[in-house]
Amino acid sequence: MNDTAQDLKPHGKRNTLRIAERSIDDRPLADAHAPLIRNAWYVVAESADIGRALTPVTALEEPLVVYRDTAGDVVVLDDRCPHRRYPLSRGALVDDTIQCGYHGFKYDGTGACVWAPTLKNKPGFGVRKYPSVEKGPWVWAYFGDPEEADETTIPYFEKEEGIEWRSRQGYKFNPCNYMLLIENFLDLTHFYFLHGKHVLTTEDADVPLKSLDAGENGVGWIKKVGGGKTGLFGKLAGRDHDEIVDLEGTAVQIGPSMHIGKEIRRLPDGKHDDAYPIYVLMNHAITPKTLHETHQFTEFCLSFDPIGGMDKFRDFSRDVVFEEDVEALGLINDYIVQDRRPGEVEFGIPGDRFGIRMRQILRKLKDKESPQDG
Ligand code: FES
Ligand SMILES: [Fe+2]
Repeated sequence: MNDTAQDLKPHGKRNTLRIAERSIDDRPLADAHAPLIRNAWYVVAESADIGRALTPVTALEEPLVVYRDTAGDVVVLDDRCPHRRYPLSRGALVDDTIQCGYHGFKYDGTGACVWAPTLKNKPGFGVRKYPSVEKGPWVWAYFGDPEEADETTIPYFEKEEGIEWRSRQGYKFNPCNYMLLIENFLDLTHFYFLHGKHVLTTEDADVPLKSLDAGENGVGWIKKVGGGKTGLFGKLAGRDHDEIVDLEGTAVQIGPSMHIGKEIRRLPDGKHDDAYPIYVLMNHAITPKTLHETHQFTEFCLSFDPIGGMDKFRDFSRDVVFEEDVEALGLINDYIVQDRRPGEVEFGIPGDRFGIRMRQILRKLKDKESPQDG
């Protein structure tokens, strides 16, 4: 493989770019057309948003209806009435059954049809029920064979004890394949440029990342900067932006559906004061809506009361910082989908290796569940 930055050099009289003969996407990896992986738990809603209303959600190209039964348990069913495919979410919740709004068939919480007009015998059909669990701030559903659903594999981890966490939830819609979002989360260098004006200065961009063990289906990195600036998060805690601290950042992706980003700032030389250590934790649940649309559910957690309050911090992160990602990823996705020129332009640098590794893991997971697909 001879892809290097050299390949991007203009050549020839017309100063056109030469397209590399072989690029990263020619390898057998999941990429920006990454197929959907069904044998996994995904977040389908914030728990707080689910009550007695029939809530429609599309995830992994499947229409779902989500509601809470009279016992308070969350139910996730296929949203298509098996009679004529009218959305069940347009019907009515009557005690613990959904009554379809078209011809009135009733479905219980297991998805079984329990009544239909003109039908004398017990109906022998129903809709698919998805195993679901509430964990953390979210409702998770399993999209593979229900017999294989194992709650212990839900990739949500309780927050570190001994820290007084403040947290908020937020949602963002990304107009791109989920793999682009995963790579974006794992890619540290973009923080310094795409978000450079808010988040960090570029001076730490070159600090090497070290691998973290994130299990068989995950990747992770850690970055340590001794004597860096406390930056935005220190400022939010009421400190001077340029105060010198030791920084530690980690990013971990577990399977297709969970990314955990964490930052810690400590005063150097074991010094202490009330403001430090500062912990920032962002749990991102990634759920493909379709092949080129992705839900992002984020739990924003801080170990301190930020200036302006948690709502303002969440709104800024979601509506300003993540909006920059949404715009960039949408543009990239459009080029990938629309560009019909032969060859592809995609050159990696060492900092991309965690995203590349994740592509390999997702390819392996997809091959395992359906070797003929994707
Ligand atoms: S479409 Fe639902 S009852 Fe006919
Ligand atoms: Fe970003």
